[in-house]
Amino acid sequence: MDIRKVAVIGGGTMGNGIAHVFAMNGFPVHLIETKQEFADRALATIDKNLGRMVDKEKITSDQKDASLKNISVFLDVDKGVADADLIVEAVPENFGIKESVWKAVDGAAKEGAIFASNTSSISITKIAALTSRPDRFIGMHFFNPVPVMKLVEIVRGLDTSDETYAMVEETSKKLGKVPVPVNDMPGFVSNRVLMPMINEAIFAVYEGVATPENVDEVMKLGMAHPMGPLRLADFIGLDVCLDILNVLYEGFKDPKYRPCPLLVKMVDAGKLGNKTGEGFFSYQ
Ligand code: 3HC
Repeated sequence: MDIRKVAVIGGGTMGNGIAHVFAMNGFPVHLIETKQEFADRALATIDKNLGRMVDKEKITSDQKDASLKNISVFLDVDKGVADADLIVEAVPENFGIKESVWKAVDGAAKEGAIFASNTSSISITKIAALTSRPDRFIGMHFFNPVPVMKLVEIVRGLDTSDETYAMVEETSKKLGKVPVPVNDMPGFVSNRVLMPMINEAIFAVYEGVATPENVDEVMKLGMAHPMGPLRLADFIGLDVCLDILNVLYEGFKDPKYRPCPLLVKMVDAGKLGNKTGEGFFSYQ
């Protein structure tokens, strides 16, 4: 089977980026959202980000138009996934939400369809077990901003078949991405390495070692990171960082992953980074 038609569930930051790259690389995409206003917002973001690529002469305006034409919106999961060969889920990192989405998808998708979750930390094996086809289930972990970042971390669950892996690897290459295979363990590789660094940067602020600006300057100028770890934490979302750290802490039962109390306090205060206008830095 060849992957021709793709359904992307969720049009948030990751979902609209994923829909953008599939559509730009010639795949018809069904973008599935719960409300028209969310779908409109996702389409407006894709339009803006394709426009950036036209401005930078990475694509032509004809390619932009063709990409937008490749996307159709569905407000009903059953209809959106029915004839898709690959279904990529990018709904919030909450097991209950993923459970209801995947049960609906399992009942409506055609035989042979491949199921992929963009989860950043929930076990692929555990989500796959919600469906009747864990051999065709896999993690496709994209990185923000999806149109820019080259990596797709491909996460193999306990039962993921070699055939499923091979098809997802080939499809990722068709998107111009570099697929890297990893096994299903808490945080996979990306967040197992990234989140302790971000957490340690927050501890440095908490313990008064340096201001957020200076922690980030050290990592940008001394280690050539494009963004400092605290700016990156704001960009990812402090709630998402906390959730991932909790998955690492509980998954490994190792205190080295304990979230910094300052991170917990900021999430409690609703200071979640870019999306709320304030985190370690202000985005008003
Ligand atoms: N769509 C299309 N193009 C975009 C874009 C988008 N959403 N966002 C940025 N770009 C393009 C810009 O047009 C620009 O193109 P150019 O190189 O041709 O000029 C290029 O990307 C760089 O953008 P800017 O010049 O506006 O800004 P910067 O140079 O500051 O780069 C950045 C922005 C690419 C975000 C860079 O700061 C960066 O790489 N930061 C680190 C991002 C990162 O680590 N992401 C991973 C997060 S972890 C994750 O997602 C996993 C999850 O599980 C937590």
